[in-house]
Amino acid sequence: MISTIKCQNVTKQYVGDGVITNAVQNISVEFTKGELTAIIGPSGSGKSTLLSLLGTLDRPTTGKILYDGEEIVTKRKKMIADFRFNEIGFIFQQFHLLPTLTALENVLTPVFARKVTYDKEKRAKEVLQQVGLADKMNALPSQLSGGQQQRVAIARAIIHKPSWLLADEPTGNLDTATGEVIFDLLRELNREEGCGILIVTHDSKLAEKADHIITMRDGQIMEDTKGDVS
Ligand SMILES: Nc1ncnc2c1ncn2[C@@H]1O[C@H](COP(=O)(O)OP(=O)(O)OP(=O)(O)O)[C@@H](O)[C@H]1O
Ligand SMILES: [Mg+2]
Repeated sequence: MISTIKCQNVTKQYVGDGVITNAVQNISVEFTKGELTAIIGPSGSGKSTLLSLLGTLDRPTTGKILYDGEEIVTKRKKMIADFRFNEIGFIFQQFHLLPTLTALENVLTPVFARKVTYDKEKRAKEVLQQVGLADKMNALPSQLSGGQQQRVAIARAIIHKPSWLLADEPTGNLDTATGEVIFDLLRELNREEGCGILIVTHDSKLAEKADHIITMRDGQIMEDTKGDVS
């Protein structure tokens, strides 16, 4: 269980068609598992890029990301994939549910081809209950509201008990009230399961409720503040 993620002078440069984009520029920051962190900043400021680097979905161009002091992306592919499976759950703005699968089947997809020590179906039902969807297990995504679909996506992200949840605009497709419900659910997972949570958001009202707020601009961190929420 990883308890800190530390970025040391992390840079991500995209090169395409002769154009160089410095999406993330020399970022140093530390995240602690007990905290809920909000990452805010204008469009194009590098928030999603930073999140995918933190989630080992991409490699920094320079600099290091240390998970309890250890670098992961330099390891073999299989090890990176296992690390990601064990430690990190992802939630996106588009819920990315498979339309022909029920809520229960969608939640099971991450563990479908994996050997695990627990009863998969029992665990899937447990997490669906945890996100308040006990009565919608057999519903298809098309039969669910946006907020309910996002709750299925959250259940899918936590089925394997990750230590970290990385969410990119998880409330971006939801109305304000539903967005708040989803945020509160993530907060609950942070408090009750002890998950470290990183949320990219445009919603400054939600960001204010975070323990740690990172403000990005032009690939850099403009402000790094810790609230006194305990
Ligand atoms: N795969 C890629 N190839 C080339 N450039 C990219 C790639 N991904 C992102 N970029 C560029 O990197 C910069 C940062 O993009 P990023 O998606 O991280 O921003 P963001 O803060 O998440 O924006 P938004 O709020 O609109 O989602 C942008 O200039 C973007 O065009
Ligand atoms: Mg983005």
